[in-house]
Amino acid sequence: MQSSYNDFSKVQSQTINNTMDMVIKSCDIMIENIKFKIGDHDEKNQNQLNPNIIRILDIGSSHGRNSIIPINLIISTVLKQFPNQCFEVYHEDLPENNFSLLFKEISDNKNSYIKLSNQIYFYGIGNSFYNQLVPSNTIDYVFSFSASHWSNYHVSFHYDPDSIGVYCKHRSKEYKQYCIDILYKNFSLRAKELKKGGIFMLTVMNENENENENENENETPTSSTTTTTTTTTSNENNVLYELFKLSKTVWKQMANENLISMNEVDKMIIPINFYRKDEILDSIKMVENDYGLKLISIKLHLQKFSDSHDSMILSDQEKSEILFSYMNAACETSLKNFINGDQTTKDSLYQLFISKFINQIKISPIKNIENLFSYYSIILEKD
Ligand SMILES: C[S@@+](CC[C@H](N)C(=O)[O-])C[C@H]1O[C@@H](n2cnc3c(N)ncnc32)[C@H](O)[C@@H]1O
Repeated sequence: MQSSYNDFSKVQSQTINNTMDMVIKSCDIMIENIKFKIGDHDEKNQNQLNPNIIRILDIGSSHGRNSIIPINLIISTVLKQFPNQCFEVYHEDLPENNFSLLFKEISDNKNSYIKLSNQIYFYGIGNSFYNQLVPSNTIDYVFSFSASHWSNYHVSFHYDPDSIGVYCKHRSKEYKQYCIDILYKNFSLRAKELKKGGIFMLTVMNENENENENENENETPTSSTTTTTTTTTSNENNVLYELFKLSKTVWKQMANENLISMNEVDKMIIPINFYRKDEILDSIKMVENDYGLKLISIKLHLQKFSDSHDSMILSDQEKSEILFSYMNAACETSLKNFINGDQTTKDSLYQLFISKFINQIKISPIKNIENLFSYYSIILEKD
């Protein structure tokens, strides 16, 4: 992830803010489970002491500014019940993530969760979340915002010749199975890491699904504690698809100008899966059977540009540029991996790509920017 992620992730921080009610709900469940375990469920016997360290795992943290939002909420909610509680917070991302920026952010940000108590310790983990990250049964709360839809980097099928996105509009049986399997892998690893009674809260991208359209395909979750909220979204084109398509066009122009080989451009892919609800529910069914990780809640959200920006005062061109900087902050590292040569070559070619892209959207700004993308927020509990 490039150095500017903290400054260009307003859209992702909005995703977190949109799901704070679910963080509160899941945190309350975790606290009740802890109280039950320490035998503190008897009102008269409240000693406000949990002898165990509470461990929070932040999956796909990037540079940490957005992670501070849910962690502040989780820690302050716990402290109301257990004022002397000790916490360990683990921030995880790929090894190439700039962990120095993350540690500086957590230490220096005046709103950082470390200001909440002097018993909070934080660490970084440079490892893919497709590996087990910590010993089994050690985590109380794991969250993954805007990260769990990233596929692992070995995916070689479903290249879209016209886009840097994964080819998924017409979902083949093979691609659907791949989505179920890769989500199951993520869920089962988190299930192993969680203590009994622990929580996994995540968001994953959706392909602007109209849930009503797929109503008959979807399994209705059976658990009595489960709530599913259905929100209808239109199947309008996802703005991210537009950005991904335009990116590929610009890279191809650069190949035609012999600035980069067509072979490198053909291989470029941002391996994000836009999951459908039936695939998510299938993965959960498997992980509930195998690891006792059960569904508490799943909710569809539509993220709008106007949620985080005053769209009335911005021109189409300004909106396009803002969106591009967000996409860029999230995708730059992945795209640079496909460029041959040393870091200087990668950096200068990428810089050229940025200026060509900006020129392109000056000539023809992306229209209809209001509906950005849709995503599911999901709460899972380890039984
Ligand atoms: C869009 S950022 C989200 C950052 C932050 N969670 C937020 O909500 O703003 C996605 C992050 O997921 C990370 N990521 C993608 N694939 C990963 C993997 N396999 N293992 C660990 N991190 C991964 C990326 O490096 C990136 O930092």
